[in-house]
Amino acid sequence: MSGRRFVELTINGDRHTVPVTGTTTLLEVLRERLDLTGVKLGCGAGDCGACTVLLDGEPANSCLLLALEAEGREILTIEGLAQGGELHAVQRAFMERGAIQCGYCTPAMVLTAVALLNRNPDPSEDEIREALGGNLCRCTGYTKIVEAIGHWRKYVAGNTNAKASTPEPGDTSHAVIGRSHPRVDSRDKVTGRARYADDLKLPNMLHGKILTSPLAHARIVSIDASRAAALPGVKAVLTARDVPGTLYGISPARYDERILASDKVCHVGDEVAAVAAVDEVTCIRALELIEVEYEELPAVFDPREAMAEGAPLILERYPNNVNTRVEWNFGDVERGFRDADLVREERFEGNRTYQSPMEPHCALAEWNGNGRLRVHTSTQVVHYVRYQLARLLDMPQGDIQVIGPHCGGGFGGKAGLNPLEILSALLAKKTGRPVKMRYSRAEMVHHFRGRHKQIVDLKIGLKKDGSITALQQRSVLDGGAYSSYGVVAVYYSGAMMPTLYKLPSYRYDGFRVNTNLPACGAMRGHGCPHPRFAFESLLSDMAAELGLDPIDVRLKNAMDPESRTVNSLDVGSCEFKACLEVVREKSGWKEKKGRLPFGRGIGIGCGGFVSGAGYPIYRSKFPHSNALIKVSEDGERVTLYTGETDIGQGSMTVLGQIAAEAMGIDFGRITVVCADTDVTPLGLGSYSSRVTLMGGNACKMAGEDVRGQVLRAAAAMLETTVEDLSVTAGRIRVAGDSRREVEWREAAARSFAENGPLVGRGHYSPPEGLGGDFKGATVGTSPAYSFTACVCEVEVDVETGRVRVLKFTDAHDVGTPINPMAVEGQAEGAIAMMLGETLLEDMQFDDRGRTLNPNLHDYLLPTARDVPPIDSCTVPSFEPRGPFGAKEVGEGSTLPVIGAIANAIEDAVGVRIRSLPITAEKVLRALRVKLAE
Ligand code: FES
Repeated sequence: MSGRRFVELTINGDRHTVPVTGTTTLLEVLRERLDLTGVKLGCGAGDCGACTVLLDGEPANSCLLLALEAEGREILTIEGLAQGGELHAVQRAFMERGAIQCGYCTPAMVLTAVALLNRNPDPSEDEIREALGGNLCRCTGYTKIVEAIGHWRKYVAGNTNAKASTPEPGDTSHAVIGRSHPRVDSRDKVTGRARYADDLKLPNMLHGKILTSPLAHARIVSIDASRAAALPGVKAVLTARDVPGTLYGISPARYDERILASDKVCHVGDEVAAVAAVDEVTCIRALELIEVEYEELPAVFDPREAMAEGAPLILERYPNNVNTRVEWNFGDVERGFRDADLVREERFEGNRTYQSPMEPHCALAEWNGNGRLRVHTSTQVVHYVRYQLARLLDMPQGDIQVIGPHCGGGFGGKAGLNPLEILSALLAKKTGRPVKMRYSRAEMVHHFRGRHKQIVDLKIGLKKDGSITALQQRSVLDGGAYSSYGVVAVYYSGAMMPTLYKLPSYRYDGFRVNTNLPACGAMRGHGCPHPRFAFESLLSDMAAELGLDPIDVRLKNAMDPESRTVNSLDVGSCEFKACLEVVREKSGWKEKKGRLPFGRGIGIGCGGFVSGAGYPIYRSKFPHSNALIKVSEDGERVTLYTGETDIGQGSMTVLGQIAAEAMGIDFGRITVVCADTDVTPLGLGSYSSRVTLMGGNACKMAGEDVRGQVLRAAAAMLETTVEDLSVTAGRIRVAGDSRREVEWREAAARSFAENGPLVGRGHYSPPEGLGGDFKGATVGTSPAYSFTACVCEVEVDVETGRVRVLKFTDAHDVGTPINPMAVEGQAEGAIAMMLGETLLEDMQFDDRGRTLNPNLHDYLLPTARDVPPIDSCTVPSFEPRGPFGAKEVGEGSTLPVIGAIANAIEDAVGVRIRSLPITAEKVLRALRVKLAE
C-alpha cells in the first residue's frame, strides 16, 4: 500500500480530503497537513500519549494510527473541544487547579479525561489514574491533573461554585503575591494554541538531520558524502570540513566539543555529518548514503576502569580520563572521626538517568537578507544559546536573535547549546532557506546530557547523642565523552553536602571521569541527589545503631539561620527544623516508625538547593537578571519583558505577580513576554533554580521604578507628596483621607503625557564576595538556600520485592511562596520525577556502548498509577535577599526523595539497598540473603 490516494477524514466536525499513502499516519495528517498542532509528537511510538486524539469518542495514539484507518470515524483534537469560545469544563478545571506546567502533555490529558468522563461522569481516583495510564507527564506529578478531573463538575459553564482565580485569603499584606493565580499561558496550553518549536513552519522551509557515530570510540579514516549530496531533494551536506573548528561546551576552561567530528568519535551518537533536504524522509535516505570509514578503538564505559592506568584515553587533554578533580578539606576530619562514638563507611551507587522532557528538542533557523540569524529553539537559555552561536559563527551577538517559544520541559537537558541549534543555522546559511531540525526520542537519548551516575563512598562520625563529628565523601562521576555541565556537577556533588547539617569537619574527593558514553550534563538537583541518597541512608542506619530516632538526629544537626557552613557558604533564612517538625506531625511518624507490620515502612529524607548560582558559568560584567516594563499610554495595560525562559515551571506567572505587586496593580492587567533576545533584556536563563529570586528581584525593581513614576504623577494630581500616597489594586490613595484618590491608570496616563513613554527598568546581581577563597569555592554559593523534609510510606511485596509507594508528606522552606499552587506543583512534579529515578529509571548500555533503552517503552517513567498521594506544604519563612522574601523550590524538592524511599524500604523489610534504581530484583535478593542469615 504505497500508492498515493485521497482519504476523507471528519475532524472536529469538518470534512477534509487529504492525499495520503499507505504509510501516512493520522498524526502526520493532523500536524503537517492541517496544522492542528495541539496534537503533539512526543515519542512517535505510542508510549507517551502526547499525540492522543479521540476516535469515535475513545482515546487513540495518532502516531500509531494510519490515516486510512481513520476514514469514516469521528476524530476530535483539542482544537475542536471548546465550543463557540466556551471552554470545556475539563479545560477550565485544568487551568484553575494548576494541572498544567509545560503544557506539552496537556491537550492529550484533557482529551483522555473527557473520554473517561463521557463514559463515567463520577470516576474514583483509582479510575482516573487508570484512565491516564497511557499519558505521560514529566512535570506535574499527576496530582493536580487527577484533582482537576475529580472536580470537573465545578467548572461546568454557569456553575457558581467554580473556583475563583485568586483563592487564598493567606497573607493579606499583599494583593497579588501569595495567591494561586492560574498560569498566564494556561488558556493557550489547554486549547492547543500554545506553539512549541516543532509547531512552527516557515515558507520554503527545509528539514535537517544529523548522521551520528554507530561506534563508541573510533578514528575517522574517511567520509564520502557525494552520493548523499547527489540524491534528489538534498540541498546541502555538511561534514567537519564545512563547519567552524571552534570548540564549544559549557565551561570556558573545558570547551571540548566539535560541531562535527573531524578525526575521531567518542561515543555512539557523536555527530559526524548533517544534511538538509526537502523533507525528513529524504534527509534520512541521504544519511544512509554517507559513507564513513572508521578505525575502531578500544573503548571504556565504567569511570573506575577509565581512571585506571592503561585505559583507553578518550580526550588527550584529560590524563587518565579525569576530566575534573576536586580535593577539599575543611576542619580536622581525622580528629572528628577519632572523637566519634560511632563511625561507619559505605559505598552507594547511583544511576544514569535522563530528563525525558515530553517535548523533543527542536530548532528552526533562518537568515534574513541583511545577514542576521534568527533561531527558534526549545531551550532553557536563549541568551546563552546566542552567546555560543556568536562565538562559533564569529558574529556579533547583536546580529543573532534567539527566540524560545513555549518549551515542553527541560529539567537541565536544554540548558546549553545543542547540535540542532548550530547545525540548523549552518545549513540555513548554506542553502539560503530556513531549516528545521528535531530529535527523535532515540536521538534525544543519544545527545543525552542527563544525570551523572555517581559512585559515592561515604564515611560519617557520630557522637552517642547523634551529633555529627566528621564527614568524608569520595565521589566518582561517570561523565560520558564530553564536559558539558560536568565540571559543575562534580563540584556541586561535594559543595552542597554541608548546607543541611552542621558539619565540624568535612573532606571531599571528587572525580569527574570521561567514558565512551553520551555526555552527562545538568539534571534537576544537579550533582546532589546521589550523595544526598548516600548521606540520608547512612545517617538513618547509624541513628538506628545508636538507638536514636532518625528525625531527632536530623534535628540535632540541622542548620540554623544566619550560619556559615564548614565550606564557607552563607546560609540566610533557614526553617529546616520547622520542615522536620511539620512532616513528623503530619505523617503520623511517632505512631508508625518501627511500628508498622512487616512489609510496610516509613522513612525520612531531606534536601535543599541554591536559589541561583552566585557566579555564572561564564563571567561577564552584566547583571544576571534584567527586566523592562512598558505601560500603555492609557495606563490600562502593562507589559513585562524578561529574558528568563518559562520551561513549564510557571516563571512567567510568578515574575508577573512580583512585578504587579511592586507596581500596585491587579495581576490581570499584566502581559509577560519572555525569552526573545531581540525583545527581552539579558537573563541568564532557567537553571540552578535561579529565576524566582534573581529574575524576581529584577522584575520587582522594574515594578518599583514604574510605581515611583506613577506616584509622582498622582502626587501632582492629588496635590500631595509621594510619601503620603499608598497604592493597592490599581487605586492610589492619600493616607488618612479616603476621599482623595486617583486610579493608577489615570496617573500612569498623566505620567506618559508629561514625560513620554512610561517604562521601568530592573536588574539583579548576587551580592559580591560570596564564598571562600579556595579553589572551586564559587560553586554552591547562592544568595539563598531552600530546605525540604520528606516522609515516605511504602509497602514491599515480600514475595516479589516490588515496592509500592503509598504516600509522601513533604514540607518546604521556600521563603514566601509567590504562587502557592505553583509551588505545590513544583514539589509534586519533583517528587514524582525522583520516585521514577529511585525505583524505575536507568539508562542501560551493551558492551559496545550502545544504548539499550533509548525510548519510553524500555526506559520507564512513572505513570499516574505509580505516583501516590502527595501532601505538600510550605513552612512560614522569609528570605531577605529574595523578592518579597521568596526563594527556590523546583530543585531542592527533588533531593529528599531517594533517601526517604530507601529508608522506608529499610523500615518495611529490614534491608538496605545502596544502589539505584531500587528494583524489585535487588530488594528480593537482599531479602533472601537476610532471611538466610
Ligand atoms: Fe505534563 Fe509538562 S505538563 S509534560
